[in-house]
Formats: sequence, C-alpha cells, structure tokens
Amino acid sequence: MCGIIGIASNKPVSINIINSLKKLEYRGYDSAGLATLTNKNINEKKCIGRVEELEKILFKTPREGNIGIGHVRWATHGVPNIVNAHPHSTDQVSVVHNGIIENSDELKKELENKGLKFKSQTDTEVITLLISEALKEHDPLNSVFKTLKKLKGSFALGILFKNFSDIIIGARRGSPLAVGYSKDENYLGSDSYALKSMTNKISYLDDGDVCVISKDEVKFYDVSLKKINKKTHILSEDENIADKGEYKNFMSKEIFEQPITAKNCVNEYIDSLKKDINIYNFPIEPTNINKIVLIGCGTAYHSCLVAKYWLEELTTIDIEIDIASEFRYRKLKFNQKNLYIFLSQSGETADTAAALDICKKNKVKTCSIVNVVESTIARNSDWVLPIHAGPEIGVASTKAFIGQLLVLFILSLKLAKIRGDINKNVYEDNIKNLIKIPEAIEESLKSENNIQLVAKEFLNAKGSMFLGRGSSFPIALEGALKLKELSYLHAEGYPAGEMKHGPLALIEEGLPVIVIAPKDKYFEKTLSNMQEVIARGGKIIFITDNKKMIANDNIRFGLRVPFLNNILSPILLTAPLQLLAYHVALLKNCDIDKPRNLAKSVTVE
Ligand code: AGP
Repeated sequence: MCGIIGIASNKPVSINIINSLKKLEYRGYDSAGLATLTNKNINEKKCIGRVEELEKILFKTPREGNIGIGHVRWATHGVPNIVNAHPHSTDQVSVVHNGIIENSDELKKELENKGLKFKSQTDTEVITLLISEALKEHDPLNSVFKTLKKLKGSFALGILFKNFSDIIIGARRGSPLAVGYSKDENYLGSDSYALKSMTNKISYLDDGDVCVISKDEVKFYDVSLKKINKKTHILSEDENIADKGEYKNFMSKEIFEQPITAKNCVNEYIDSLKKDINIYNFPIEPTNINKIVLIGCGTAYHSCLVAKYWLEELTTIDIEIDIASEFRYRKLKFNQKNLYIFLSQSGETADTAAALDICKKNKVKTCSIVNVVESTIARNSDWVLPIHAGPEIGVASTKAFIGQLLVLFILSLKLAKIRGDINKNVYEDNIKNLIKIPEAIEESLKSENNIQLVAKEFLNAKGSMFLGRGSSFPIALEGALKLKELSYLHAEGYPAGEMKHGPLALIEEGLPVIVIAPKDKYFEKTLSNMQEVIARGGKIIFITDNKKMIANDNIRFGLRVPFLNNILSPILLTAPLQLLAYHVALLKNCDIDKPRNLAKSVTVE
C-alpha cells in the first residue's frame, strides 16, 4: 500500500511527480520522496509525513531533471523516518518499491558479508544494492532481471539509473503497476488514478512483466526477458474526481453522495419499465450453481456477510463466506459448480487478489464486484459486476459499501428468479423497493443533527458495543469498524444473542451501546438483549426502522431510518452509523480522510 510514480519527459518532471504523489497519498502517507537525474547525478529528496512537506523542500531547491521517480509510503519494514523513506539510492541507482520482499533478511546478510553497508531498515534497500552490484557486469535491463530472480514476495518497482539517464525500468509481481503514454513523455504509476491527470492512455503490467520507459518509447518484457506487447486502455472520464466540492473532506462528500451513487447503481442494473434486472452472461448457468463463496476484507467482508443472509433468504443455494486472508491459506475443496465472488472497492487488495489467484489456478468460475473496473481483481475475474460508486478517496469506505450491498442484493434477486426460488411478485416487489432506495438513503441522512448530539456520548467513553441480529449483525460490525478506524476508539460489533456468552462483562455504567433493531423477526429478541445491557448500566443508542420508537427511559437516543421492507433494512441502517463515526472523529480532531496507520488500498499481505 505505497504509491509509485515515474516520469520520463523532455521537460522538468518534479512538479508533475509531486502532483501525482498527492493523488497517490490515499495509498500511504507515512513519508514521501523523489529522485531526479540531472547532469548524471541522482538528486534525492525525502520527507516525513505528507507530500506537501516534500513540496516545500523542492521549492527551496532548483527543480531540475527531465526524468524521475517518486513514492509515498505506508511503512511495512522499518519505522516511518527519513532514512526509511523511499527512494533508496546508491551512486548508481535509485529505487521506489511497493510490496514486501519476504527473503530480504537473507539477501541483506549475503550483501553485508560482501562488505556492503545498509543505511535503512527497509527491504527495498536490498533491491537497490542488488541492482547496483549487478550493474558492475550487466546492462540495466539484465541487472534488473538478475535481481528479480533472487526476490521472494511482492513488488512493484520504479528504478532510475545514473549512467542511463533516458530510461526508467518498472517491474511487477503481486503489486499493481501501470504505464501511461503521452507526447514527449511517458509514465509509470501504481494505478491509473495517479496518471489520469496526465493521460488517459494506460497499459497495465501483469505479474512477471518488466517495462522500460523513456520519453519517446515504452518497451515491455515478460518474465523470460522476451519482448511483449501490452493492450492500451483508454480511461473513462470520472467527473469531479479530484475535488471535494463544498465538502470539507472526501468522507463527508462520499457519505452524502450515496443517494446519487445508489441511483447510478440501481439504474445500471434495473429496468424499471420492465421491472427486470439486466444481469446476463453468468459464468455458470444459475440453475447449475451448487454453492456461492463470497470473499473480501474489512468492509467488503461485511457486505459478504449481509449477502449471505440475502442469498439464504431468496435462493436454495448453499452459501459460504470467508475473509480473504483466511481463505487463501485454507485447505479448500474446489468444485466446478461453485461460483466464487470477490468483493473489493479498490480491486487491488493483496489478500483478495491472492484468494482470486488460487481460484483461477483451480479453474473454478470467479466473479468480482468492484468499484475500479480497471483494477487487478477485475481484470483477473471471469465476470465483473461494477458498483458504479465513482472514485472513493476517503480511507473509510462508505458509498462503496452501499454499492456492494446493492449489487449483491440485485444479483441475489436475479439468481433467485432464474432458479425459480422466488415468484414474480416477490421479484417485482423487491425491484420496486430497490428503486426507492436512493430516496430512502437521502431520508436516513437527515438524522445528522441528532447524530451530532449522540457523538458527544462517545468523547470520554472507554469503548462501545454495536449489537444486531440476523442481517443487522454485519451492520453492527461495519458500524464498529467505522468508529474504530476514524476515531481510534475501541468498538466491538457483536451478535446481540451472544452478549450473555461473555461480552456482557464489558458492560458498565455509562458505556455507549448501539442497538440496531429493525422491525423484523428478531425485534423482540433484540429488545430483551437490550434489557440485559440496560440492567448493567449500558447507555443505549437505539436505531430502528420501526414506525414507533420504543419508549424506555434507559434509551439515551433513538434514531429512526425509513422502512421499505425487512430484507433491505441493512442498506438503510448503515448511513447513521457512518455519520456517527464521522462526527465522533470530528470531535476528536482525527484526520477524517487519512486515519492514522491506515491506507485506502492494502496492496501488501
Ligand atoms: C473500510 O472502511 C476499510 N478502509 C477497509 O476495511 C477496506 O474495506 C478493506 O481494506 C478492503 O478494501 P477493498 O474493498 O478495496 O478490497
């Protein structure tokens, strides 16, 4: 989860490198750095923290060099300090890296035994020294290939050479890397988002590929050093991708965009006149599907959990779900009649991509539900269902979660209809309700003023609990995750029925407990679990779609969301929890779009 940029041009590159690094900061922001080549010297500049610090350093020095590389870091090996910031350079070569080299300690020892000295604690510096050593006997391309053969683990690399000042070499294994084309200059970047402001012509490296870019030419090689060609994609135009408009941060923009993005998503899949769903070309004929396995991480995993309830409710298909980082190491029994569905906003999450690779190696059918259709996971799936949420910049996922839920519900409904598991009335009734979702989300966002009052209850809290049953349980997990990652407060999401099996011990006077209780078959049971909490002093925040609020002196706050039908309630119960986490984080002066220790796209294990 670091960001890489490289530019080979006929004019100075450092300003464009800085601007591209700013677009890559969502991938990591512990430190930043760049290196340019002038008069055959490698000029390296680095800073701790944000790219704007690097910009300040640059303004104090001449911004020369028509070729350069840049990096924003999310620390994996070595604390975030100047020495560990990328690029890592010798007098011959400068390297930026995203990924984890798993045998770096062993390689470092070999190099130290040869008398070489290390300045940093990073695995990247091993790559720098290996290439430097190889350059004593080989040209740049062969030096890189020789080095890559020694590396175990994942990397996306950008490499600059002191004595070959017209080229940058890029290499990819397990971490995304793209090339961009323009007149008199060409680019290397971690993803298309970093390159979009300079070009819309992009190629993507696949694992094992190496590229050599200069200002006039780009060459590609496969893992056996054979020259290859790569497809050029023309990127779609995403309007207002870069600015927050009138919002003070991306997260608030993305929360309040949800009615629009939900409408875009529904319009993409629903034919409101025919009351039908436009999903066809299933990779497996729906009536032949034996099992569906849903896989994701974090918020994307929570959408898998919600979909499990929906698919079990609407179809007779056997459903399994797993967290990608667990799935990829299990002893799995694959079946050609299983459909493996991968949920990922970025489409670049390393664990999810690795889980997908295992399925591909076992020749089973795969589908990805993503927000970035040019992403690695999308390009490697048999079938892609985009969520149409538009770029999501805030690290805490909001509109993408709603998009994932909508596509998962729409898919569940279509599968159930084709298989004959539901009748026409149920099908059409749910389509009618889906069309009302955007307006209902708009309505649920109106509770913001009340939520700002609720947020104050968390300021001095030791932690909090989020409780729900059935499809509200994954929403409890999602609400807890939002609060954790935005406000750094301890928060647990739990099945309400589980409290008596231990977690009730956490309840003490004044602890805020969010009870998510839609008017469904679990409602009464959830009320009794709430009583167990009240009896021990818990402070209840009650969220429901029930027409009347529960009258109880011990409910500190009651929040109501609109009701469409029981099965769609998870989608409408989510917005208040996003707003709650947002306002607690605001009160605590946390960084809303870039919470500490996190990154938007987790492209390392
Ligand atoms: C969500 O708010 C978190 N930022 C994180 O859990 C995220 O959902 C997870 O890393 C998966 O990301 P993806 O959807 O891009 O694969």
